[in-house]
Amino acid sequence: MADSKKVVTLITGAERGMGFVEAKTLAQHGQFVFIGAYDMELGQKSVKELQDQGLDVALVHCNITDQKTIDETIKTIDDKFGYLNILINNAGISGPEGGLPSETSEKDLRGVFETNFFGTAAMTKAAVPLLKKASYGKIITITSDMGSLGLATDSTSMFSHINAFPYQASKTALNAMTISYSKEFRDTKVNITANSVNPGMTATDLVNKEEFEKNGAKPVESGAHRAIELALDPKNDLNGSFTEDGGIVPW
Ligand SMILES: NC(=O)c1ccc[n+]([C@@H]2O[C@H](COP(=O)([O-])OP(=O)(O)OC[C@H]3O[C@@H](n4cnc5c(N)ncnc54)[C@H](OP(=O)(O)O)[C@@H]3O)[C@@H](O)[C@H]2O)c1
Repeated sequence: MADSKKVVTLITGAERGMGFVEAKTLAQHGQFVFIGAYDMELGQKSVKELQDQGLDVALVHCNITDQKTIDETIKTIDDKFGYLNILINNAGISGPEGGLPSETSEKDLRGVFETNFFGTAAMTKAAVPLLKKASYGKIITITSDMGSLGLATDSTSMFSHINAFPYQASKTALNAMTISYSKEFRDTKVNITANSVNPGMTATDLVNKEEFEKNGAKPVESGAHRAIELALDPKNDLNGSFTEDGGIVPW
């Protein structure tokens, strides 16, 4: 994958949590990272922290449920570089408490899908023209083992006992998006891959940190590791996969 140009990366929801660790680590490896922030106040602090360390990062306001901010984000990257190598679809929200399907309101279900699925799909579609302009492009989408139908239907898996319908269904749908994009560019001259990544249970603001830590959740650096590994892979030959640190995750 010969490319002497700067690797340009956009990470959504990167002002905190795993997205922030991904941004910091990829910038430490020489990438230019656009931190797509939802919370701009925190985004400014996070970007300053990294710029003070001499890292090449820039802040963009990117609410993935707001097409205007998505378009502005893409325009900012286009104006500065004219291409994008890596999109990490990291932004996401958890679901409502409980989550049994019969007890989930349509409003809650639509709310989770609005961010996790429709927002991510809109962001990805908007990024494709810039990914096509790069010598290679990677769409890395952070989904979850919670979205694995294989694990949910495996009676020996702990996921067969977990029933958080809105979040799980939204991540399953995102895995379907990964598969669709991986097929769209496969066997074409366009060098864009699409892969899903499972961070595993990680102690971040998304979850009840104390509860998760009691149950053995990983530190945020470990949760971010697989996405970073994929983003730093000098090859771009993995396509249509769903992986975690331990290997392949069933769809
Ligand atoms: N933590 C886990 O155990 C775990 C396990 C499997 C998968 N994941 C996935 O990993 C990803 C990162 O999560 P995390 O655990 O690092 O949680 P986090 O710290 O809460 O990070 C999620 C980020 O997404 C942002 N966000 C929310 N809605 C957004 C929107 N409409 N547009 C743009 N950004 C938005 C959040 O901003 P605000 O905080 O300002 O809302 C936050 O910065 C998520 O996709 C999550 O589903 C997490």
